[in-house]
Amino acid sequence: MNETIQDNLNYKKYVIDSRLKYFKPHSTKIEKSFSEEISFSLNRDSKFIHPKFFYDKKGSELFEKICTLDEYYPTRTEISILKSIQNDLFELLDGSFRLVELGSGASVKTRLILDVFNKKYDKIEYFPIDISEILTESSELLLKDYENLSITGIIDTYEGGLEFIQNYDSEKNLIVFLGSSFGNFSPIEGAKFLEKINSTMKHGDLFLIGLDLVKSTSVLEKAYDDSKGITAEFNLNVLSRINDELDADFDLSNFKHYAIYNEKDQRVEMYLKSLVNQSVIISKSNLSLELHKDELIHTEYSHKFKIEQIKELLGKTGFKIQKIWLDKNNLFSLTLASKN
Ligand code: AVI
Repeated sequence: MNETIQDNLNYKKYVIDSRLKYFKPHSTKIEKSFSEEISFSLNRDSKFIHPKFFYDKKGSELFEKICTLDEYYPTRTEISILKSIQNDLFELLDGSFRLVELGSGASVKTRLILDVFNKKYDKIEYFPIDISEILTESSELLLKDYENLSITGIIDTYEGGLEFIQNYDSEKNLIVFLGSSFGNFSPIEGAKFLEKINSTMKHGDLFLIGLDLVKSTSVLEKAYDDSKGITAEFNLNVLSRINDELDADFDLSNFKHYAIYNEKDQRVEMYLKSLVNQSVIISKSNLSLELHKDELIHTEYSHKFKIEQIKELLGKTGFKIQKIWLDKNNLFSLTLASKN
């Protein structure tokens, strides 16, 4: 980054030009390293790998591909809802708002919301929050396409970024959390996260969340085990990442992608299934792993919701629902809420 550096609220400020700046904390909260997390999560009877580790460069590319698959309906459906509600959003944004996004988006979805802002305001402010510096690349592209846009990126955890914005100024925020990323939290973590978002909001701020809905097992299982095998590649890629970064010797041909819908808990569960009895060494985690044939390593939950549950969840975490929009086939939902 080309920068002018200033201090602001324990963050370093990087001013790239008059329309683009970033804030990055001086020190991130001490997080466990990749090797420590893997050593903890695989050295136990019920083994798991946290889904945040999917997204190295290859994993992020594979996820982009997943989003274009016929069987993976969430992305295109959420886009179709966003397109259909642009006028509603225009009306509901009462006064001047800026856009805060959890996750960095150069995506079509961010643009659909920026288009609404563009119609409504002379100047647009966009604050993406993302832990990864990928945020810097996506910002440049947006600035080219929206002349009246200025971007303030926050390179931090969602919680850290939201606290930063809370202390930054008193502008009204439309906070968006799209893609049903919320579905990857456990119910307890998810509720805590919503409470956190709520606690950083002012009265007058708005929150837009995209949540995937409960539907038939066959549609769900196909969405997470597609015919081209891209989701399988995405799941298995986490083992390649461990091989490369933690000096491990996973033989990928000894594992199979396994996705199943758990109707009771309303979630798609993804696993890597060991096809044989095998030992694996993960040098940098100091781990020698024994896996038996058919043993599962859990990699992801993707929770699905009913409308009543969305209302209940947002209600109990301090929100007042303004509006819920669905697509014509009731596959996916977008909910706009304010602080209660
Ligand atoms: C990022 N997240 C919302 C996706 C989902 O649908 O749970 C990740 C994904 N995993 C497999 N396919 C897509």
